[in-house]
Amino acid sequence: MNCLWSLSLLHLVTLWANAALITENGLPILWDQASSQLSDLPQADNVVTVNPWNYLHRMSLYRIMLSSTNRYMGSIGSTEADSPLWGLPLQLGWKLRSGRLVDPTGATTCGQEVDPMCISAKSWWSCVNHHLLVVPFLAGVRKGVIGDGFLQVQMQAPAESAEVYCISFADCSATHPDLMTKWENFFDTLKNMSESEISDFEKRDQILGAYWAGQQQSLKTASSSCKEKMSAYSSPEVLFANNWMNSADYVAATYFLSNINNSVLFMSPLPSRVLKEGDSPPNIADLSSEENHTLYMFDWMNRMNRYLFGSLVKMWRSAMCSDKAREKGRELLQDLVQNPKFAASTFLSILTEMVRSC
Ligand SMILES: *[C@@H]1O[C@H](CO)[C@@H](O)[C@H](O)[C@H]1NC(C)=O
Ligand SMILES: *[C@@H]1O[C@H](CO)[C@@H](O)[C@H](O)[C@H]1NC(C)=O
Ligand SMILES: *[C@@H]1O[C@H](CO)[C@@H](O)[C@H](O)[C@H]1NC(C)=O
Repeated sequence: MNCLWSLSLLHLVTLWANAALITENGLPILWDQASSQLSDLPQADNVVTVNPWNYLHRMSLYRIMLSSTNRYMGSIGSTEADSPLWGLPLQLGWKLRSGRLVDPTGATTCGQEVDPMCISAKSWWSCVNHHLLVVPFLAGVRKGVIGDGFLQVQMQAPAESAEVYCISFADCSATHPDLMTKWENFFDTLKNMSESEISDFEKRDQILGAYWAGQQQSLKTASSSCKEKMSAYSSPEVLFANNWMNSADYVAATYFLSNINNSVLFMSPLPSRVLKEGDSPPNIADLSSEENHTLYMFDWMNRMNRYLFGSLVKMWRSAMCSDKAREKGRELLQDLVQNPKFAASTFLSILTEMVRSC
């Protein structure tokens, strides 16, 4: 009896810890300490300087991006909580809480308890996030959606001189031209849609389409420019990181509305710590059953895709042929990721049926 009691208590604590992993009072980690206006950040001579190697600065960039884009998101929902941009800061919070922004080489204490707001330029996860933050932010400033059109933004380079990251609009456009174009296109779409006469339904489809095109290009660019940072991690973490990256293909194809509620649903079962050598999902003792299950499903989808020579992703994309199909796709993904009893074979048969009815 005692044993059962402590087991269920343990389960409760794990569940609670999971929710706390990505939110605080229902918002991203340390959201209330982040700035919401570009003019609140340090500036001199009309140039705002941001230190993206500090968590609060990165979170401030997201908070500013959200507050600057809200007025364009009316077609998506009536409240701030409906913005699809929430997925990004929530994800950053998960990276912080799960120890993924720490220096993985152990050469510095960056990100550890003594220096908890430090973001390591050597972390693969921070490198990927840089592509999902700095470039979109600079594109938004360039397009006059963020800021007043006069303030310029400059990013600090990392302290480790060996690490190369772009720091300004000119610099980032030169190093990542395709990526910058995609995000400029997203901000242009926001502006265009606010003046367009088409229905809210069509606007929403275009905004989400441009948003996911930007995200996909960020991940694609990051997968090559951050690649060498993977060598600092265990093989299970590398496998998870790759699977996490690939899972975005499935999410993007559904035009997932990554508002607060939907994002929390999908991110809560992500692993709460960096995986170590010897961790073997779905049998990692100190992870919750949801975390075990998610890791297992990610891996299954990736293996299936390889067995089918990449056609699982292709099949999925072709099944997402209409707004109705995309809605069904979102439900299917939810079952797959969240419901430990949901079998892979069910997924395949539903998917086959969906492709047929396109
Ligand atoms: C926005 O509208 C302008 C003017 O109509 C057009 O030239 C441009 O291609 C549009 N851009 C996007 C991304 O919709
Ligand atoms: C999010 O979920 C909460 C609790 O389930 C609910 O009260 C709220 O209305 C939801 N918000 C949105 C924007 O869907
Ligand atoms: C994760 O998986 C392993 C084996 O299935 C198990 O030992 C561990 O308890 C799991 N976590 C939970 C909470 O189910």
